[in-house]
Amino acid sequence: MTNLLRVDASARRTRSLTRMMSDLFLANWAKTGVDIDIISRDVGLHPPVAISEDWIAAAFTPIEQRSTGQKSLLADSDMFINEVEQADIILIATPMYNYGMPAALKAWVDQVVRIGKTFTFDLERGDRPLEPIFSGKTLILLTASGEFGFGTGELNDGSDHLTPHLRTVSKYLGVNATHHVGIEYQEFGGHRFEASKAEAKRQIEDLAIELAEHGPNAGRRGQA
Ligand SMILES: Cc1cc2nc3c(=O)[nH]c(=O)nc-3n(C[C@H](O)[C@H](O)[C@H](O)COP(=O)(O)O)c2cc1C
Repeated sequence: MTNLLRVDASARRTRSLTRMMSDLFLANWAKTGVDIDIISRDVGLHPPVAISEDWIAAAFTPIEQRSTGQKSLLADSDMFINEVEQADIILIATPMYNYGMPAALKAWVDQVVRIGKTFTFDLERGDRPLEPIFSGKTLILLTASGEFGFGTGELNDGSDHLTPHLRTVSKYLGVNATHHVGIEYQEFGGHRFEASKAEAKRQIEDLAIELAEHGPNAGRRGQA
């Protein structure tokens, strides 16, 4: 049984490309008949609260010293982290908003990357004191953007702060391999958008079948 955590981040319910992509991945997985247990966390429609000074203080208070109020401040974070912990595959379907991730997804990231829960911090380790607690997870990153050409040497090289950010931070969720499929040109429409959509759909179908049939760690072509 594979456990998959599905995180949708689009603020749009209708006409959302990224929701279409996560639906497509799961529909293609279902066709294989391979058992999967799916937990859905829709941060686009139900944004987690932004962390606060009190939240940070609670997270840094040793568990046995936390007040009832501090425990309840961390309750959502505990639930989100529990969902991450169970997952073999974390599927994040997210738009690019203002060249980065939607605020709702960043709020989720801030709630799940937590000291003592998803990473440890020890200065004995020298200049890299942080270490993830979880490991062996696979990240599937499904993205959509209105513009295009974010690759090396392309028109908007250097402007993609979405995928690099999620690749970097996913290490602290225990991710060791990442597969990324993106749709571009949404704002332009036309044949380039249609071609980008068609190619993304093809890649998602292949990826779903590959991971379902050969396990979540199959095909390390997208290794983080
Ligand atoms: C608030 C907002 C900000 C956006 N910012 C960008 C951007 O910086 N760069 C870009 O290429 N597209 C941008 N877009 C376009 C979206 O990435 C694109 O519409 C995408 O398809 C949205 O995902 P969805 O279809 O799943 O809702 C933005 C869209 C919105 C609504």
